Amino acid sequence: MTSYRFPEGFLWGAATSAYQIEGSPLADGAGPSIWQRFTHTPGLVRDGHNGDVACDHYRRYREDVALMRELGMNAYRFSISWSRVLPEGTGAVNQRGLDFYRRLVDELRGAGLRPVVTLFHWDLPAALDDRGGWLNRDVASWFADYARVVYRALDGAVEEWATLNEPWVVTDGGYLHGALAPGHENLYEAPIASHNLLRAHGAAVQAYRAEGKHRVGLVVNIEPKYPASQEPADLAATRRADAYMNRQYLDPVILGSYPDEMREIFGAAWPEHPPADLDLIRQPLDFLGLNYYTRNVARHDDETWPVHAAPVPQLRHAYTETGWEVFPQGLTDTLIWMKERYGNLPIYITENGAAFYDPPMAEGGEVSDPLRVSYFRSHLRAAHRAIELGVDLRGYFAWSLLDNFEWSLGYSKRFGIVHVDYETQQRTPKASARFYADVIRSRGAALDAG
Ligand code: FCB
Repeated sequence: MTSYRFPEGFLWGAATSAYQIEGSPLADGAGPSIWQRFTHTPGLVRDGHNGDVACDHYRRYREDVALMRELGMNAYRFSISWSRVLPEGTGAVNQRGLDFYRRLVDELRGAGLRPVVTLFHWDLPAALDDRGGWLNRDVASWFADYARVVYRALDGAVEEWATLNEPWVVTDGGYLHGALAPGHENLYEAPIASHNLLRAHGAAVQAYRAEGKHRVGLVVNIEPKYPASQEPADLAATRRADAYMNRQYLDPVILGSYPDEMREIFGAAWPEHPPADLDLIRQPLDFLGLNYYTRNVARHDDETWPVHAAPVPQLRHAYTETGWEVFPQGLTDTLIWMKERYGNLPIYITENGAAFYDPPMAEGGEVSDPLRVSYFRSHLRAAHRAIELGVDLRGYFAWSLLDNFEWSLGYSKRFGIVHVDYETQQRTPKASARFYADVIRSRGAALDAG
């Protein structure tokens, strides 16, 4: 029987993001973000939901930190809202916004939890969107200026910084297919937005090297692509899908060039990039953050624009409530692939988790979520397997600490290990939280059984 023991010093935590949990988006002098606007535009978010209250974490953060401590976590990944700190995106600093994160970081450290901070988790200041947002080349210096303000305020207490969360989702959802803020659907804009996201990442890493004392990295979502058949058309489609979603970001960041397939996919919409941009993008990193949820089995499909690759449903396999196949082996495969393609950088699994149906109210103080328990068990085992195979994995963050605002799906999908009753804001740790606490307490031994 395999015995699961994780290394000493491994980070065990949960992840969240600002707009998804904080609520009070305009409190204490904050400016609106593009998500504030998007959610307040009728018809864009399921059931008209928005982040006005969310989990009320902005006011209840102490309770949430105490919960994490009770569950035995030693780290917490959260994001900072740019427009709380700089209401206009650039220029004047809103000290009260910054103070919220100072209080949060202090509370975490007081509870023995290490803060892992993401600078950008999708909530671009609306004022910057008015100036072109990710389509304006100046966004790289806007982002670096914002990052500098935050580094100066918090680097004494924060040792792991991530620049961006999932640039692919920002571009694919925000600029190509339009399901996420700012809701554009434009083939020509998408590669420009991606490129400026990566330039902004590079500029923020440079700024960190000038001022920071600790470690900085990037968080990407990787969905490994497996061909539906060995037919040349399916193999080519799989290659394109992988380039589009996975290599489009890590290749320039680590290897200094975009994958060849990008031109195949975007045709005339793929711009020429000045070589100096690639130098800015390719900054040495201290770690990579991996968000892993599922895999994709791909086949060629003429109708699927613009990648011409369509997902093939896997009969008899389990799927989550968001329609994502449960495929733990993909986590091991992805970690090995990252090590082999990009070098053995330290990696954190910065998100991993599953939405399954849970009732709106926790009956008798209990929420039984066996499917989520089994998801975490199998994925933690898969992560452990990657360590055995030589991956320098340093930590694991469950998505998410709390049920929360799942973007254009509103509150319809619950990802939390802690249940939130949105009527009362009552928090109830689910069975998956108890299970995770056992894993943490035993440094993995609780994975041996079951
Ligand atoms: C990731 C996002 C996170 C959450 C999960 C379910 O793509 O980073 O905010 O929405 O998916």
